[in-house]
Amino acid sequence: MTHTKPVLPAFDEVDHGIRILEEERRRIARDLHDGPAQTLTNISMKLEVLKMMIDSDVEMAKNQVDQLHKKVGSVIREIRHLIYDLRPIAVDEVGLFEATKALCTQLQQNWNVPIEIHVPDSVESKSIAPARQVALYRLIQEILNNMKKHAQAKTITLTVSQENDELRITICDDGVGFDPNHIPAGHYGLLGMKERALYLGGTLEIDSVIGEGSTFVIRVPVRKG
Ligand SMILES: Nc1ncnc2c1ncn2[C@@H]1O[C@H](COP(=O)(O)OP(=O)(O)O)[C@@H](O)[C@H]1O
Ligand SMILES: [Mg+2]
Repeated sequence: MTHTKPVLPAFDEVDHGIRILEEERRRIARDLHDGPAQTLTNISMKLEVLKMMIDSDVEMAKNQVDQLHKKVGSVIREIRHLIYDLRPIAVDEVGLFEATKALCTQLQQNWNVPIEIHVPDSVESKSIAPARQVALYRLIQEILNNMKKHAQAKTITLTVSQENDELRITICDDGVGFDPNHIPAGHYGLLGMKERALYLGGTLEIDSVIGEGSTFVIRVPVRKG
């Protein structure tokens, strides 16, 4: 009887994969901490104050209740947004580019910044393996979320092109720009994105000028179209 050895991924590949997962968890933890957890702590403190003044100043107390009600509403929206980011997406059903278009439509709606998206008909999601499409989608999602969070952009452009076996996704904003070589401690998003691109056998190039905006170029190998 012959035994075939199971094909295990190389160690540094496993290492890479684990690091990407850990970074993802760190980001989720940070988003929950900076967002809903902080707002809820604030609401809890205001409720303490409200309890003390409720008998002495009913009008002011009513006012506070209204404000706290609004704050609770904003926490609910924040949590919904985080869930939307995390939920499994239909990339494998509709394909990377359709899913990206849907993401852009959704982002534009609650962000009010137009996103121009150019995908030539010659580029097809089919030429990219399904798991790689999901990884690319997450990469695009994170770049766009960063633009939403940090760039103060007026417009965003997302352009897809393919030359032979290289797929290129370019995402530009015309916002405040930043120095990619001097990222403050404790921010691992960009690092994680670069790792993700390397994991796909490709690269992520970041070009940014303070006051003029930022350009992110993802390059990954695909099957020839
Ligand atoms: N599109 C962008 N425009 C301006 N600044 C950006 C942009 N993308 C990233 N940055 C800057 O790079 C820093 C690091 O980003 P990241 O690693 O994703 O961490 P985080 O989003 O948690 O702050 C951000 O804090 C921000 O200062
Ligand atoms: Mg980020």
